[in-house]
Amino acid sequence: MKKTILMLAIISLITISCGDKKKEEPKSEIITELTVEDGKELFTSKTCATCHQPDVKLIGPSIKDINKIYGENNASIVSFLKGELSPIVDTDPGQVAIMKANLDSFVKDLTDAELKAIEKYMLSVQ
Ligand code: HEC
Repeated sequence: MKKTILMLAIISLITISCGDKKKEEPKSEIITELTVEDGKELFTSKTCATCHQPDVKLIGPSIKDINKIYGENNASIVSFLKGELSPIVDTDPGQVAIMKANLDSFVKDLTDAELKAIEKYMLSVQ
């Protein structure tokens, strides 16, 4: 009998703690909006900056050139990074292959919030 009570106590403890966890979930979903600063940090830590400089073409087009063409075409950088949009800035096959290799590897691991933050940062470069 004592064992049964103990078991019940353990089960209810588990249930209570699981219930708490569920309640916490929405909180972490709300804090998904990242800032321009976060985007800037990601742009460096995720190595985008090694190929993309604000003003000058390095390996990839400059951020300003990307912004100009995306602005003119009313296109979304996030969509390009998700592989939903073909390149519009530099369509040279060799160049496209370099960026495509990124899209197919580490860019896939970035969350929507991170991609949005990167876009926010890029668009902030005037
Ligand atoms: C190894 C070098 C390299 C790295 C790292 C790199 N890029 Fe690129 N990127 C390129 C090259 C080359 C192009 C030109 C080809 C093209 O436009 O698809 C390009 C093009 C782009 C374009 C324009 C695409 C278009 O419409 O033509 C965007 C936006 C972009 N990169 C964003 C990023 C972001 C964000 C990161 C980091 C997550 C990143 N790149 C990392 C080399 C790189």
